[in-house]
Amino acid sequence: PILTQDELKKLAADKAVDYVKSGMVLGLGTGSTAAFVVAKIGELLQSGQLTDIVDGADEVDPDLNLVKGRGGALLREKMVEAASEKFVVVADETKLVTGLGGSKLAMPVEVVQFCWKYNLVRLKELFSEEGVEAKLRLNETGKPYVTDNSNYIVDLYFENPIQDAYAAGKEISAFEGVVEHGLFLDMATAVIIAGKSGVEVKAK
Ligand code: A5P
Repeated sequence: PILTQDELKKLAADKAVDYVKSGMVLGLGTGSTAAFVVAKIGELLQSGQLTDIVDGADEVDPDLNLVKGRGGALLREKMVEAASEKFVVVADETKLVTGLGGSKLAMPVEVVQFCWKYNLVRLKELFSEEGVEAKLRLNETGKPYVTDNSNYIVDLYFENPIQDAYAAGKEISAFEGVVEHGLFLDMATAVIIAGKSGVEVKAK
């Protein structure tokens, strides 16, 4: 039988729980895929030093680099994941891309509200070779979407995948007023991908 996307997400989530051992301190991200992990592990969180986190992602490239934050959470997720010894990603195969930015869906950049348009223009210029649309993210009522850290998000839609994600990440971060971006590079320890042919674990 052909599995639904939710069934694939659940398969990846069930596999991710193999990484959870008794006594381990576990951090969890957000999103519909990570929610299946939460349901599966229940009350495994314990106090102490953070060593592991299990989270979803919006894009996964062949080197296990990611785009995250399409759901609006990126700064806090990146901080928690950077502080973790292991960061396990759960995703279904629709998230796989050959190059970051390749899904044609948003790559978010969190910016301070002050002069947000100035950063939108600079971001557009930065990716002129890839070809990019830059849009201020809006909420359901048409007002600017405000993050959990009271910032705005500029969403980037690429015509072609980002040529050098490492250089791009550094250049975006160097803009005054940029708080964080959705490129999560060299952060994932393992990615669990559920697809029609089964569940695959990719690890570095
Ligand atoms: C939150 O902003 C994101 O980084 C999520 O982790 C990501 O959007 C994955 O969500 P889904 O599992 O719902 O696709």
